[in-house]
Amino acid sequence: QLQWKRRLTDAGVPVSGPLDRGYFKSIYFEDPDGQILEIATAGPGYAIDEPQDALGQVLLVPPAKRMPTGRDERAIAAANHPEPVPTITEGMRLQGIHHISGITDDLERASDFYTEALGLSLVKRTYNQDDGNVKHYFWANYDGASVGPHSTYTLFGWEGSSALARPGAGQTHHIAFRANDAEEQATWREHLLSMGVGVSDVMDRTYFQSIYFNAPDGQLLEIATDGPGFAVDEAQQSLGSELKLPVWLESRREEIQGALSPLE
Ligand SMILES: [Fe+2]
Repeated sequence: QLQWKRRLTDAGVPVSGPLDRGYFKSIYFEDPDGQILEIATAGPGYAIDEPQDALGQVLLVPPAKRMPTGRDERAIAAANHPEPVPTITEGMRLQGIHHISGITDDLERASDFYTEALGLSLVKRTYNQDDGNVKHYFWANYDGASVGPHSTYTLFGWEGSSALARPGAGQTHHIAFRANDAEEQATWREHLLSMGVGVSDVMDRTYFQSIYFNAPDGQLLEIATDGPGFAVDEAQQSLGSELKLPVWLESRREEIQGALSPLE
């Protein structure tokens, strides 16, 4: 993590942290569009302050040392890797999504939706460790024994906020959850419809099939099938090396390709 901080700061990207979030340690920075990105450690996990078989049942107040006034901000800012990090080494490889965090105007309503409509389970109910007035809930694939990797979704509750997200650079457009196959996806679609959630028809996205719907706060969500995958129209060994167009745009390839700036 400190190697990432050193590499990013040397490249002129301001990095904050590492901050001790209890369940993981995190550094934060922004991409060129202003999207806040985080690199979080995998552990120690959600069982540090409640039993592994009873996660998310109690509203926990974070200890003072993890809150802004209890932190040694100067030591945190000074912490860095001693040597430059010119290449991304094997040990630095990012393992996937640790969690996604959004903002909602009604945290309890969101919690009902994500648990009842989407089958996620609460794994932590606590407060924002940068602002103790804001509640912060975590959901994941959790069966009372283990928390599925790469499955955590979190929301900050800005209760009663009337400010709505506007589409634009740096703004997350939608979040896609995974279904194993079309049959499972169809079951989800029926389930959502039976709960009164408006769901799109199944859309063919070439590499997967998708359905779309909105959370009660308006967040656009998707359930996508795992298959058929990105190797349907180019070799597995060279994915992403050619510009791929949907069949109905193939006739306009020259025009479209000509308008793009080359990738370095
Ligand atoms: Fe986070």
